[in-house]
Amino acid sequence: MKHISQNSQNLQLVTKTFNDIPFTISTRYQGIKLLGAGSYGTVLLALDTQTNTKVAIKKLNPLEDIIDAKRMLREIRILRAMAHPNIVAIKAAIYDNVSQESDYFGTVYLVQEYFQADLHRVLKNPKDLSDDHVQFIMYQLTKAVAYLHSASIIHRDIKPSNILAKDDCSISLCDFGLSRQIEEYEEEDNKKAQNFTEYVVTRYYRAPEIMVSSQQYSFPIDIWSLGCTFAEMLNEGKVLFKGKTYVQMVKMIFEILGKPIQEDLDQFIKNKNAMEFVQSLPSVPPQSIKKLIDYSNPLAIDLLDKMLVINPHKRITAQEALNHPYFKEIREKTEEAPYKGHADFTFENDDTISFEQMRIMILEELNKLGEKIDIPGEIDRLRQLREKRRAQKLKK
Ligand SMILES: Nc1ncnc2c1ncn2[C@@H]1O[C@H](COP(=O)(O)OP(=O)(O)O)[C@@H](O)[C@H]1O
Ligand SMILES: [Mg+2]
Repeated sequence: MKHISQNSQNLQLVTKTFNDIPFTISTRYQGIKLLGAGSYGTVLLALDTQTNTKVAIKKLNPLEDIIDAKRMLREIRILRAMAHPNIVAIKAAIYDNVSQESDYFGTVYLVQEYFQADLHRVLKNPKDLSDDHVQFIMYQLTKAVAYLHSASIIHRDIKPSNILAKDDCSISLCDFGLSRQIEEYEEEDNKKAQNFTEYVVTRYYRAPEIMVSSQQYSFPIDIWSLGCTFAEMLNEGKVLFKGKTYVQMVKMIFEILGKPIQEDLDQFIKNKNAMEFVQSLPSVPPQSIKKLIDYSNPLAIDLLDKMLVINPHKRITAQEALNHPYFKEIREKTEEAPYKGHADFTFENDDTISFEQMRIMILEELNKLGEKIDIPGEIDRLRQLREKRRAQKLKK
């Protein structure tokens, strides 16, 4: 099935279906095949006929509620703001507003640089990774995380499938949609489980503080996830903590790494039930991951131990990790500069923003891509819709 429509940019959009998933994109791009599907988008490999290069086009799932809308706004805003060799760049966006119904929000597509694989796929053949590869990948990741953190952004979903890789071993972090508020972890999990009956929520990379105390988490959660990913690379692609539930995860973590002393626990477990549960776990003295992972480079193990410190206040930071001797020989200090701009995420905690308003903010955000997208008219239509909704609410 093919249909041709016109968007406001006077770009011709063509619909083509890949594995039953329609992509309505500019004729400039020729779809080749589906690359992957996460829980929030589907990614197509395409040829950009203008530059004759391969690109990846991520079709974002339709917005059903404010959580979806926040997620989309966050992803686009972060991608637009970040400029770093190890963070995936947004080349362009496509907005398909083909339906003219008044209560309609179009489909958003993000055009990104194409990567041959993600780390999850690479780790299926762990023998392909030499010590040098692991070191280089970890350096790039640590650099990307240090940059993100310098912009006060927490990724929150670092895991092998969100790390893109090229054949030359250069890598980029992707997938910036995950929520900031901890309650939303639960909501997100429930949503994923509802939408995808066979979808298993991956908790393997989730830091212990997320599981034992709801509000207390920050930048260190990314370091934990990075550590779990690192461990997988050092240990033949085996997932480090493969618990099925939060309880199982916490048990495994405390059994393998040992139980921190009470003073440490007090620093990050604020929930009484969680504290009682942790206290009931067997007292294993803190131990190095060396017991579990037999790896030849002691510097790698030393850095990993520092990333997997259970008390988030004592976990190594991304900036400190860059200074670790493991990276000494390969550092490119010019690429370690902090973020310079200002990215505004006040919408995250603003409960007064309506769903309609959030959709307008997404279009305004897309509009800021300048030449990379052009969507006049749409914003006005959505503004009118917002006013209509407001008036309806007032009447009630
Ligand atoms: N730029 C890209 N190049 C190649 N593959 C990609 C690219 N972006 C995403 N992918 C693939 O698609 C998958 C899903 O993309 P992701 O951005 O993580 O979306 P989701 O939010 O749905 O998880 C990734 O795990 C990866 O395998
Ligand atoms: Mg993903």
